[in-house]
Amino acid sequence: MKEERKAKEVREEVSRNYARAVSEGKGCCGGSSSCCNSAGLGYSDEEILDLISDPELISFGCGNPLAFSEVREGDTVLDLGSGAGLDLLIAARKVGPSGRVIGIDMTDEMISRARKNIERTGMNNVEVRKGIIEEMPVDSETVNWVISNCVINLSPEKKKVFDEIYRVLKAGGAMLVSDVVAEDLPGWLRNSDRLYSSCIAGAISETDYIRGLEEAGLENVEVRERAEYGMEDIKAFVKTSAEIPSEIFEEMGMDRAKAADHYAETLSGKILSVQFYARKPS
Ligand SMILES: C[S@@+](CC[C@H](N)C(=O)[O-])C[C@H]1O[C@@H](n2cnc3c(N)ncnc32)[C@H](O)[C@@H]1O
Repeated sequence: MKEERKAKEVREEVSRNYARAVSEGKGCCGGSSSCCNSAGLGYSDEEILDLISDPELISFGCGNPLAFSEVREGDTVLDLGSGAGLDLLIAARKVGPSGRVIGIDMTDEMISRARKNIERTGMNNVEVRKGIIEEMPVDSETVNWVISNCVINLSPEKKKVFDEIYRVLKAGGAMLVSDVVAEDLPGWLRNSDRLYSSCIAGAISETDYIRGLEEAGLENVEVRERAEYGMEDIKAFVKTSAEIPSEIFEEMGMDRAKAADHYAETLSGKILSVQFYARKPS
């Protein structure tokens, strides 16, 4: 019960941060810094440039989950944590009028922004549902593709999310998820609320991610893309988002700025944006 209450509090904090971010028009993973990696978001297809240049369609993602996807006309696609709706609209174009796209998000401000964006395109094969990805408001075995862009790291209950992905997929259906993974984060950083909403503190390792998907029953789990966060990205996170506790840098015999530089160096190469593919057995 205590664990559940804690998870609810974490989600409420994350939701408040994203409500603020979308209202202020700040893209990318919430914090005072950006979650986009220096390698870029991976949206290169010319057909989506008109969507990306639209300021209302702000992206908070860390990859392009639809890149490398074999989404076909007539498919049903589910986007976990659909935000302002960019990936929903790209998917809606791919599945066409005979297909269906469903987004789930828990943040009212994001949902209303996405609904406005959908309305402006006039597409009627796409909808957004309010809910949490740990208990998806979607019937079992109804979806061909689960996609998600920089969201599962924000979940305090990742096992539930992986189990839900398995539940909603049709047999033979697949998931493509872009997300942040991180190795060996120091304890103070794991406990930073702000770095949680910035998609860092809640990130698990690539190995744990793959294990979680396999334990949920998914197979053919593979990493399709990997992009390291550059030193400058990490410096920006550590310096502007985190409150390094004073006892930590005093113990290190450094001032706050030097300690931030030190952590940026030690974390270099350990924070990545990864695209995972997995399939539900036929
Ligand atoms: C980093 S943003 C990504 C938004 C979008 N996927 C994109 O690429 O622009 C995270 C989004 O996931 C939503 N979110 C985070 N945790 C969630 C959860 N447990 N259940 C439902 N939505 C969640 C937030 O409200 C926010 O809209």
